[in-house]
Amino acid sequence: MTALEYVRGRRGLTGTKEGCGEGDCGACTIAVGERKIGRVVYRAVNSCLCPAVRLHGKHVVTIEGLADGATLHPIQKAVLENHATQCGFCTPGVVMSLFCLFSERRKPTDAEIRDALEGNLCRCTGYESILTAAKAVKGPAVPPHLKKAAALMESLPARPLTVVPGVGDEPFCGYHVPDNPEKLFETLELPGGGDKCRIISGGTDLMVAAKVHGRPFIHAADISWIPGLPHIGEMDGHISIGALTTFAGILESQNVKERLPALHAAALIGSAQVRNVATLAGNIANASPVADGSVALLALGARLVLRSASGARKLPLDEFFLGYKKTALGDREIIETVEVPLGWTQSSFIKTSKREAVDIASVSSAVAVDIEKGRIRKARISLGGVAPFPVLSEKAAEHLVGKKPSEKAFEEAGRIAMSEVTPISDVRGSAAYRKLLVRNQMLMHWRRMFDETP
Ligand SMILES: Cc1cc2nc3c(=O)[nH]c(=O)nc-3n(C[C@H](O)[C@H](O)[C@H](O)COP(=O)(O)OP(=O)(O)OC[C@H]3O[C@@H](n4cnc5c(N)ncnc54)[C@H](O)[C@@H]3O)c2cc1C
Ligand code: FES
Ligand code: FES
Repeated sequence: MTALEYVRGRRGLTGTKEGCGEGDCGACTIAVGERKIGRVVYRAVNSCLCPAVRLHGKHVVTIEGLADGATLHPIQKAVLENHATQCGFCTPGVVMSLFCLFSERRKPTDAEIRDALEGNLCRCTGYESILTAAKAVKGPAVPPHLKKAAALMESLPARPLTVVPGVGDEPFCGYHVPDNPEKLFETLELPGGGDKCRIISGGTDLMVAAKVHGRPFIHAADISWIPGLPHIGEMDGHISIGALTTFAGILESQNVKERLPALHAAALIGSAQVRNVATLAGNIANASPVADGSVALLALGARLVLRSASGARKLPLDEFFLGYKKTALGDREIIETVEVPLGWTQSSFIKTSKREAVDIASVSSAVAVDIEKGRIRKARISLGGVAPFPVLSEKAAEHLVGKKPSEKAFEEAGRIAMSEVTPISDVRGSAAYRKLLVRNQMLMHWRRMFDETP
C-alpha cells in the first residue's frame, strides 16, 4: 500500500490528490516530519511513490492538518488572498510543498520558492499568482497546534515496526523490513517466484516500474531500517556516501559542494519531493543510461563497496555497468557505500533536457581534471545517453592530459568524444543531435570550470 492509498483510503483524508501516480505532478505531496538534531524537520514527499510503512514513527502532515479549526494556515490564507487557486486540484500539493519550505526558512528567497515548487504542476491558475502568494506568506509555518502534535509524536515510546509479509509468488505479496544486515541477507534469499527479491531504497524507480510500467515485485526488502547506511563523511582521501544517503542529503553537504562540484550539480535530480527520498545507490543500481549520479561518479573515479552474506568487496564504478540495465551486482548483494576520491582540481556535470526540472537527460556528461603546474595531469570524461549505460570517453580524456586547460583543448576533446560514440535516435533526440550535444557540452564544461570571462 502506498502512503497515498493509506491517507486517502484508510484515513479518509481525501484532500491529498492523485494526479499522475508516478512522481511527476506533486498533487499527492505530503509533509513527513522526522526528528533531526533536536527538532522536527519536514520534508515534502510524493505519497504516490512512498510505501505506507515508511510513515511509521514520523509526524505526517496532510493538507487537512494545516488549519487550526476555522483559522487558516498562513500559507492557505496567502493562496486564498492572492487568487493562487482555480480548479484546486494542484493546490493541496502546492501548499504542502510551501509548508515544508517555510518550516525551514522564515523568509525564503524567490529562487528557493521556485526550487521548492519545481515538482508541483498547475494546469490552470498560472504560476505567477502562486509565486505571488508564496511571497506574501505571513506567520509561522509550524503553528502551535502542529508543534503540539509533533511533541505528542515524540513523547510516545518508539514502537518497533512490525510488518507481517505475505508468502508465495503473487505480485506485491511480500514487503519485508529487515532491521539488521543478517536479516536482510536472509530476506534476499527468498525465491520470489520467478523474480529475485528486490531491494527498495527511496522507491522512486522501483515503485514507478512496479505500478506504472507493469513490473510488480513479488518480494521487496526495504533497507531503510538497517542502521549505518544514511551516512556521508570524509575518510582516507575520499568522501564516503552510505547507501541510504538521499540526493537532498548530498546537496546539503558543504564538502561535496566545494570539492566535488560535478556530484553536487548531478544531485539536482527530479524535484524536491524526489530528491528527499531518492538515493545515490538506487540511482547507480537502477543502471539507467542517463542516471545523473552515475554519470558524475564515473568521471570522478568512484568505487563501490558491495556487501553480501559472505562479506564485502570493492569494485570501481568503471567495471559495474555491463549492458543495458545489466550490472555486476550479485543477486543477493547490495551497494553498501559509494567512495568518491577527493583531490580533483575541478569537476563539472552538465545535462541537456527539455525541462530543467523533473526531466531526464537527452545527453549528460561530466569531466574531472587534476591540474599541476598549470597543466592537466589527469582527466576523466563520462557520457550519459549515448550508449546502453554511462560510459567513459577515454580518448577525449587522453587528449586533455599534458595540456593547459583552454577552449581549444576542450573543443578538440569534444570532437574526439563525439566521434567515439554511436548513440541511437529516440524521442529524446536523434543520434546526430546527441553527438552534437556531446561536443557542445565539452565546451560548456570548459566555460564552467575555467573561463573567467564575465
Ligand atoms: C519524477 C521523477 C524524476 C526523476 N528524475 C531523475 C533525474 O532527473 N535524474 C536521474 O538520474 N534520475 C531521476 N529519476 C529516477 C530516480 O529518482 C533515481 O534513479 C533514484 O536515484 C533512484 O533511487 P531510489 O533510492 O529511489 O531507488 P529505488 O527505486 O529504491 O531502487 C532502484 C533500483 O535500485 C535497486 N537498489 C536500490 N538501492 C540499492 C542498494 N543499496 N543496493 C543494491 N540495489 C539497490 C533496487 O532494487 C531497484 O532495482 C526520477 C524519478 C522520478 C520518479
Ligand atoms: S500523483 Fe503525481 S506526483 Fe504523485
Ligand atoms: S488550480 Fe487547477 S491545476 Fe492548479
